[in-house]
Amino acid sequence: MACGIVGVVTRSGALRRRLGLIIRDSLKRLEYRGYDSVGFAIITAEGKLVVRKSKGMIDKVSRKLGFDEVDGLVGIGHTRWATHGVPSDVNAHPHTDCVGTIAVVHNGIIENYEELRDMLVRRGHRFVSNTDTEVVPHLMEEFKRSGLSTYEAFRRSVELLEGAYALAVIDVSTPDRIYFARGTSPLVIGIGDGFNFIASDIPAFLEYTRKILVLHDGELGYVTASRIHLERRSGDSWAPVDFSGRVRLVEWTVEMAMKGGYPHFMLKEIHEQPNAVASTLAGLEDQVGAVVDALVKAENIILVGAGTSYHASRLGALLLSNVAGKMASAIISSEASWHLKPVGEGDVVIAVSQSGETIDTLLAVREAKERGATTIALSNVVDSAIPRESDLAIYTRAGPEIGVAATKTFTTQVAVLAYLALRVAERLGSLGRGRVAEMIADLRRLPEVIASIIAIHEARARRVASRMVSCANAFYLGRGYALPIAMEGALKLKEIAYVHAEAYPAGESKHGPIALIEEGFPVVFTALGSHDGRLLRSNIEEMRARLAWTLAVAPATLQEVLRAVDVSFRMPPLTEAAAAVAYIVPHQLIAYYTAVRKGLDPDKPRNLAKTVTVV
Ligand code: F6R
Repeated sequence: MACGIVGVVTRSGALRRRLGLIIRDSLKRLEYRGYDSVGFAIITAEGKLVVRKSKGMIDKVSRKLGFDEVDGLVGIGHTRWATHGVPSDVNAHPHTDCVGTIAVVHNGIIENYEELRDMLVRRGHRFVSNTDTEVVPHLMEEFKRSGLSTYEAFRRSVELLEGAYALAVIDVSTPDRIYFARGTSPLVIGIGDGFNFIASDIPAFLEYTRKILVLHDGELGYVTASRIHLERRSGDSWAPVDFSGRVRLVEWTVEMAMKGGYPHFMLKEIHEQPNAVASTLAGLEDQVGAVVDALVKAENIILVGAGTSYHASRLGALLLSNVAGKMASAIISSEASWHLKPVGEGDVVIAVSQSGETIDTLLAVREAKERGATTIALSNVVDSAIPRESDLAIYTRAGPEIGVAATKTFTTQVAVLAYLALRVAERLGSLGRGRVAEMIADLRRLPEVIASIIAIHEARARRVASRMVSCANAFYLGRGYALPIAMEGALKLKEIAYVHAEAYPAGESKHGPIALIEEGFPVVFTALGSHDGRLLRSNIEEMRARLAWTLAVAPATLQEVLRAVDVSFRMPPLTEAAAAVAYIVPHQLIAYYTAVRKGLDPDKPRNLAKTVTVV
């Protein structure tokens, strides 16, 4: 999904800054698309191709490799979110041909790269990386050897690619242009006076120009400092495209543009969940082998996490216990040392942390390791501290999360834990085969299910928010799987809308908390399945009798719950693994809109930091 690419071509003096510096800044603006490695290629005034690239984040790599010092009139850059090949110096983009004259940056996945690479290797090409992208410069080199021009070689290469791609290519033999192609992955041209940009997203060049041309799927061409040439396929050949009516001016600031038109990162990230879950599930099968082996063998499984990651851990523990039949429990990271004493060889500790840097969780990993347990990290950031120090690592592919409140990293964490529980259940035979298949099929439907939940319930969440703004307190109640979801819903409301929200097991609510209920006190119920229905109904009645304002997030099949409350969020009925992922979405939306109605900035709640590296 992610990765950011950029290309700049300019006539001398038009941009008045060194090209290396311009590309570095542009990549920085695309950093939200990925940041595990970074690099650029520039053709210097002497006609030499300079490639600088490395694993690591932009600021560090750019200082280390002196990005700002390199100058020229044409260059391309890339910030990476690893898909094929681990983050490393050789796998960082740009990639070049055998003789180092053609450089390519790519966002997307070339699905038939193995076949193409085998063919090229047979023809004597030397590959140095494990990426899918490297086939492109070698293909172009191959076509050029047969006598084609660079542009013809580029077109012929693109014709052979299957999958998703946004490509930017430079060649020392044509140092006045950047070749580009769009197949699914986004690409936009920034049109300047004496220069042109090509990039994955508008923020990359917004500092220099607001005039843009968004490329359509299937288009390719080249840009020079003063010209754009665009073509698309027409039958068996390529035909020029008249794009004059498509050039437009954007009114965005750099920050607005990075939010893709959403007013806040948090809302953007809520809306990105279908994609984030789809990418995470697509990348899982290759990663889980050793992890499933360890879980199958484990005597006890302990999940540790902080905040939202703790709530995901609780869902993971419930799924591992109830679906896979393993002894599993979840502990808050900062409390872990009180619980890890009896842990030893034969036990597995799963550390859940989107950032991979939360110190409390890292300390729990160290303690578990010292005691001989096998440690497994679940993180969204490749090669961060927790995965680095754990025995095994598994990654969500949510893309960078910028809003301080975790949203898409939560749903992707739960999706991974649900998938693991199902794979363990399959291996142990703890559920019938048919049931495992049914639950995995439900997980695979999640992207479309989450998209429809957002579409159906966003307006209702906004209406709820307009009343929630005048509430000082709220209860979030649920049983079983619904309890960690209630806890996460309460945390979201608390941290971004500053409403004091408390989650409780629904059955426990009458043992104390009910004393607080008075007219209009919000009580938000969550239920996942039919087993919750009857029991929850009596909890709802207890609250209604005391004039609480009652709300419920429950499957459409649970009429006894949905009919009993003042506001109902009718959810698609799902098996428990998928429901554990999807049912948080209305809660996220309620919290977001309540914060906005209060005039707060949900992206930057007071007193909070995205990554907590102090105990
Ligand atoms: C809540 C939130 C925090 C984090 C917690 C752990 O919205 O974002 O509670 O979940 O600080 O962070 P990670 O997952 O990076 O370990």
